[in-house]
Amino acid sequence: MPHLSSESLTRAREIVDLYPQRRSALIPLCHLAQEQDGWLRPEAIEEIAGLLDVTPAEVLGTASFYEMFKLEPAGRYVISVCTNVACMLAGAYDLLAHAEERLGVRAGGTTPDGRFTIEDVECVAHCDHAPCVQVNSRYFGPLDAGGFDRLVDSLERGELEGDVPPHGTLVRVRRTKGLMA
Ligand code: FES
Repeated sequence: MPHLSSESLTRAREIVDLYPQRRSALIPLCHLAQEQDGWLRPEAIEEIAGLLDVTPAEVLGTASFYEMFKLEPAGRYVISVCTNVACMLAGAYDLLAHAEERLGVRAGGTTPDGRFTIEDVECVAHCDHAPCVQVNSRYFGPLDAGGFDRLVDSLERGELEGDVPPHGTLVRVRRTKGLMA
């Protein structure tokens, strides 16, 4: 029985058709599966391998290389606190310590209710808004402790549903043409 939903499976086949070689769709299909489940489940990895005529080990080998793919359950909101140079100089480690205190978990952890995961990450290319965070790949910054609390409050109240989709969703507009079209 397929793990991917019929909608995801249809989309997966459309994505595969965008590429001259099936295996080139590996990363997009990992994103698709993560969008469905919030992380890359072993069953999804198996199914992606089948769709691409590669082994599950090849899918896992690629997915495990990239930090954006989660190989275990993540919170609905993955808060990535940048501690690279520009953010560090602007107080990123204080911000990270505050985030850990506010949410009650250390970096790398997920709150017991499954709502938030905190990560300590390298530069996310939002240096002009240091110190900054990403929430599910959406940018927020500059943030101090108060700004972080307001952000979390808004997420908890569901006020940012339109701006911050569940973890795994990258884009609003789907690609429909191949690279050569
Ligand atoms: S150093 Fe933090 S976004 Fe670049």
